[in-house]
Amino acid sequence: MTVTNPVCVQEIYHQFGRRPVLNGVSFELQGGVLAGLIGPSGGGKSVLLKIIGGVLCPQSGEVRHQFADEEVSLMFQEGALFDSLTVLDNVAFPLVDGFVPVSSLARSQRQSVTEKVEQILLRVGLEHAAHKMPAQLSGGMRRRVSLARALVDCPKLVLLDDPTCGLDPVASSVIMELIVQLHEELGATMLLVSHDLRRLLPIVSQLLVLQDGTIQFNGPPSELVEKASEPIKRFIACRYDLYGSQSLTREGH
Ligand SMILES: Nc1ncnc2c1ncn2[C@@H]1O[C@H](COP(=O)(O)OP(=O)(O)OP(=O)(O)O)[C@@H](O)[C@H]1O
Ligand SMILES: [Mg+2]
Repeated sequence: MTVTNPVCVQEIYHQFGRRPVLNGVSFELQGGVLAGLIGPSGGGKSVLLKIIGGVLCPQSGEVRHQFADEEVSLMFQEGALFDSLTVLDNVAFPLVDGFVPVSSLARSQRQSVTEKVEQILLRVGLEHAAHKMPAQLSGGMRRRVSLARALVDCPKLVLLDDPTCGLDPVASSVIMELIVQLHEELGATMLLVSHDLRRLLPIVSQLLVLQDGTIQFNGPPSELVEKASEPIKRFIACRYDLYGSQSLTREGH
């Protein structure tokens, strides 16, 4: 793996009302890593991803990286598709200015945008769905559309917020496998939030645990057993019944 453009998150602090959600969050991501972020519900994972993605400004602290704004992509929790746009226009969104339907673009731009969208739709197995509306798709298909939109512009830093949230086991496995494949193909740095520890832990090389407003574990999943604190072990254990076995690691899978 080439180590370029590391992402450095430094002492992020953010609160809503009186309660701090992020209370001094610091970590680094090496270029090209597929990293996982886990933690209790309401613990601030989505807030942190929005801050890293530049859509929310932290009250203090900073995120440093060398990527241009358009090289950073955030897939929101629940996918956040535009219900009134076709799949084609949803996926094309990062490639055009605002809510301009692909059909009204000038011919040369329309061709190149359509090609890019078709390519990524093929990659996520939705090549026949370009002209469907989101409401006509299953939950798993909608999530694949969101993933396609997040990746269509070949981003260098990809932030994926719980992409399997609410999906059945088969659809979840499809999404996680796609993420692994597309991570390898794109060579992007990826930070993946998931509650699906069984599928997440074997695929990430760096795991971050956000609890009580700070990063309480940062390392390879294989070191969880040895190095995590008791509260973290309990948190993992109640979501992953094989905790402690070799199946936590890629090697043991
Ligand atoms: N815009 C907002 N205004 C007020 N409070 C907010 C806002 N966004 C998030 N919060 C609060 O910040 C806390 C962290 O929320 P966040 O969505 O980041 O949690 P999470 O770790 O992503 O949870 P989950 O695993 O359920 O997705 C919660 O208490 C939430 O209510
Ligand atoms: Mg969230």
